[in-house]
Parts: sequence; C-alpha cells; structure tokens
Amino acid sequence: MTVTTEVRTAARVVDAVKVYGGGDTAVRALDGVSVAFPAGCFTAIMGPSGSGKSTLMHCAAGLDTLSAGAAYIGDTELGSLDDRRLTLLRRDRVGFVFQAFNLVPTLTVRENITLPLDLAGRKGDQEWVEALIDVVGLRDRLHHRPSELSGGQQQRVAVARAFAGQPDVVFADEPTGNLDSRSGEEVLGLLGRTVRHTARTVVMVTHDPVAAAHADEVVFLADGRLVDRMTAPTAERVLDRMKAFDAGTSQAKAFDAGTSQAKAFDAGTSQASPAKAFGGGTSPAPEVPS
Ligand SMILES: Nc1ncnc2c1ncn2[C@@H]1O[C@H](COP(=O)(O)OP(=O)(O)OP(=O)(O)O)[C@@H](O)[C@H]1O
Ligand SMILES: [Mg+2]
Repeated sequence: MTVTTEVRTAARVVDAVKVYGGGDTAVRALDGVSVAFPAGCFTAIMGPSGSGKSTLMHCAAGLDTLSAGAAYIGDTELGSLDDRRLTLLRRDRVGFVFQAFNLVPTLTVRENITLPLDLAGRKGDQEWVEALIDVVGLRDRLHHRPSELSGGQQQRVAVARAFAGQPDVVFADEPTGNLDSRSGEEVLGLLGRTVRHTARTVVMVTHDPVAAAHADEVVFLADGRLVDRMTAPTAERVLDRMKAFDAGTSQAKAFDAGTSQAKAFDAGTSQASPAKAFGGGTSPAPEVPS
C-alpha cells in the first residue's frame, strides 16, 4: 500500500549510517536515522554534543557521504552522483550557513552575496537578489567589506548568500553560535521570515531552545539516532524535552549550554569544508577565512 502525502520533501535521509574510522576506534556517528525535511519548512536539529547533528546535516547536504543508507535532495539520491555532479548539485540546489560566517574578506557585501552565482557563471534572478538584500536589511552596507560589519550583519550577509541562487534547501550549522543574543535573534527572525515569505526550506542545527523555537519543527537526536520530533515548538517545551533527556540518559549532560555554545564549527578537522560548500572539489573555490 502506498501512502501519498501532499507535502513535498526538500531533503531526506533513509536508514542513514555513518561510521568514522575503523576497528576498535570506529565511531558510529549515525546509527540508522530516517528523517525527511519538508519543503517550505524550517526544521531545527537538536541533541547532545556528539549526537550526530553535524554529521546528519553534512551527509544530507552532500558535503560528506554515508557509510550505508541513502540521502536525497528532492528526488536525487546523492550516492548515485559522481563527484562532478555532486558538486553541481551542491552549487545549484543547496545553500549553506556556517557558524563562522566564512565571508570573503576582500569582497564587498554585494559581491559576497552573489558569489555562488558568480562562481556558477549564472546571473541569477536579479529581482530575487534585490529582494533578499532588503529582507536582510543590508542595502546601506552593500559596498562595505566584512571587516566593517558587526557579527550579526556578517551573518545576515551569509544568509543572503545562502539563498542567492534560490536553492531547494539551506542548511545552517549553529548559525547563531558566534552571535550575541540580540544579533542571534535577528538572524533567526530572518531565517524564519525567508522561509515563510519565499517558501524556501531551512534545516538548522542548534543547541539553543530559543533558536529552535523559531523553527516549525524540531527533530531530536541522541547517540546517532532520531529519538523525538516536536511540531510548533516553544523554547519552554524544547527545554522541558531536553531536561527529560537529562533525567533519562547521562548523554544529555552535554546539552550544557556553556560547553556547546562555545564549540566552533571547525573547518580544519571536519570533512565538510566551507570551500566544498561553494563548489570546491572539482572547481576552484574562493579563499575562505577559517
Ligand atoms: N571526522 C571525524 N572523524 C572521526 N569521528 C568524528 C568525525 N566527525 C565527527 N566524529 C564523531 O562523530 C560523532 C558525532 O559528531 P557530530 O559532529 O556529528 O556531533 P554533533 O551532534 O554535531 O556535536 P556538537 O553539538 O558538539 O557539534 C562524535 O562522536 C564525533 O566525535
Ligand atoms: Mg556539530
């Protein structure tokens, strides 16, 4: 029997397994996760440190490959693509926002926003780009360089850049991790508005219940497994759910905001580099600050 759903899926993984290393030191970062990210929705991924959130995001986005199972962007199974086609898919259909903003310091705000289009040799939709500039509120900063902007403004540039090519889905790994709470709120509000006003899809990893409350749905990971989902989250309900983890498993101690907030996205040790996100691998990527 087939079940038809009206909601289109922007990205999904099925029975996703990811094992790092081998032998005694093998780490099973994903242990059979199946989850779909509906198109037009803002989904948050939460879970203790080390639960596999970044791994799930990287594998779903085609920045890293699964050991078993399948990852799809729309109907395209990523494992079926060779390197070149995977690079093109990431470039044309996926947007990324990293914790470290990864703007190119020598380019202006406008040049940073249109960078993915320029790298792809595409003009893009000018009206869309102009509208984005207004949505992120940076029209009066277009000729500035990243060093002349606040952290929140830089992350707003990164959000605009992620959406510039009208991707099917934007993945964000702790996009507010380096921001103070006010700038963080601005960026989260911006992500939420962009999803609602443009029917785009966002998948965001976060440790922060207040951040997660901006999403339409929260999925919870623990020990590489999907353990819960929550629709219409509020910060309070998310916090309660996290406390339940704490009571139930020792794992959840890692939810401790102090340690997790401070953890930076480490491009050096991760297999998924920001350069890759902008089409690296088979084509020259811009220099990105680490
Ligand atoms: N490149 C790697 N090589 C070996 N092990 C890795 C690698 N990347 C991640 N891991 C391990 O896989 C597990 C999941 O890591 P992951 O980065 O996905 O966790 P996370 O939920 O994003 O954690 P955090 O909240 O601290 O960012 C951890 O045990 C981690 O040590
Ligand atoms: Mg992580």
